[in-house]
Amino acid sequence: MERTIETIEMGEKAMDEIVSLAKRRGFVFQSSEIYGGINGFWDFGPVGVELRRKIKDFWWKRMVYDREDVVGVDTSIIAHPETWKASGHLDCFSDPMVDCKKCKHRFRADELQGPVADSVHGHKPALKKCPDCGGELTEAKQFNLMFQTHVGASQDSTSVAYLRPETCQSIFTQFKNVLTTSRQKIPFGIAQIGKSFRNEITPRNFIFRSREFEQMELEFFIRPTEAEGKKWYEYWKAERLKWFYDLGIKKESLRQREHAKDELAHYARACVDVEYNFPIGWSELEGIADRSNYDLSQHMKFSKKDLQYFDDEAKEKYVPAVVECSVGVDRTFLTILCDAFAKDKVEGEERIVMRFAPHIAPFQAAVFPLSRKLALPAHILEKDLRKHFQTDFDDIGSIGKRYRRHDEIGTPFCITYDFQSEEDKKVTVRDRDTTKQDRIAIDQAGNYLRDKLRT
Ligand code: GAP
Repeated sequence: MERTIETIEMGEKAMDEIVSLAKRRGFVFQSSEIYGGINGFWDFGPVGVELRRKIKDFWWKRMVYDREDVVGVDTSIIAHPETWKASGHLDCFSDPMVDCKKCKHRFRADELQGPVADSVHGHKPALKKCPDCGGELTEAKQFNLMFQTHVGASQDSTSVAYLRPETCQSIFTQFKNVLTTSRQKIPFGIAQIGKSFRNEITPRNFIFRSREFEQMELEFFIRPTEAEGKKWYEYWKAERLKWFYDLGIKKESLRQREHAKDELAHYARACVDVEYNFPIGWSELEGIADRSNYDLSQHMKFSKKDLQYFDDEAKEKYVPAVVECSVGVDRTFLTILCDAFAKDKVEGEERIVMRFAPHIAPFQAAVFPLSRKLALPAHILEKDLRKHFQTDFDDIGSIGKRYRRHDEIGTPFCITYDFQSEEDKKVTVRDRDTTKQDRIAIDQAGNYLRDKLRT
């Protein structure tokens, strides 16, 4: 039977509704909520953790498993403090901070000028008035974003260490070890997924800018010529866009914004932001940069170790250049929530539905017994599907309520085991987006899902 579905246009309140759904359905909770929360930190609930794993697995699949020229690493969060001198973070990784002399609110001076940005480039003079109370603002002070800690028992300046503000620096410092153990030849890449920490002055917009977050970074090492830089920069721009499309993100909500020459970091030859049209406006989702051979050269200088590459074929030695692709797990997570969030009316009844691409949905299928009396055979089916897919068994409340819950967590297929199933050995599969129902043989349920989930 055809069902009528009316789309409801999303208003400006979409972000508030997404935050509320994220909590209600177990995607994201405020960290330490029972103590009043801690600003800039978030916890991921039972449904959220599944979505995060799918994002990371899909990135790793495309960037490492599907390729012969990329290998992975998993490095420590705390590195030797010299790392951060060499990388420039100790001296330059800061944002300009201003305080209101009257209401004491604190702002990033560069943000008082305009759009959301992440990095430290392109400072402009601070505004003189507080946007909250009109009070006078202090002069801008540079505030280093790295979290400090101490290593070992002594708590003095000799034991200071930092939580990494990006995962890539250890990729550079381990370049030689990875090269010799993996037997890769240039061009090749090193990939890593891991936590990063930045003591952001104004963490905000839900998980868009947090103080603890996760990055997925690829450093792709190449010959240090301008032509190679251009070639691989264009290559990775196209690859990364394709990854977002394959995550199911709407093409019209993604764009790439090239940095102007005066916006580039001092080491970068070119840089582009992949931006998404969030409810807060177009904002950075990923940075792709041609970083020249600045990073390896700096680590050579500070460590006094030779990090050059010997090219057997050309019989020459050089410090490789690098094209970097750096994307946040949390920002991708938020993008997927925003992109999937939809409201419509099914037969006149309003619902919220998360239209995740089926392969990244937290659950691929849910199995419902129509009545508790049918729990046993329904459970047998669900356990069987669980071997191959992420599934949920749900026997609480009316079938309508169960559909609502699974629409809100984006389960693409809900399978109902009813009284007739005992006779005809069939179940009803309901499609999340169209709400259309198919009657299929129980022993074909796995094949049916496999077919629908093919990417
Ligand atoms: N290694 C290069 C680097 O870290 P970045 O532009 O500072 O570059 C890369 O960060 C990506 O990391 C951003 O595009 C964003 O997805 C994510 N990211 C950066 N700061 C973040 C924060 N405070 N909260 C959440 N994600 C963040």
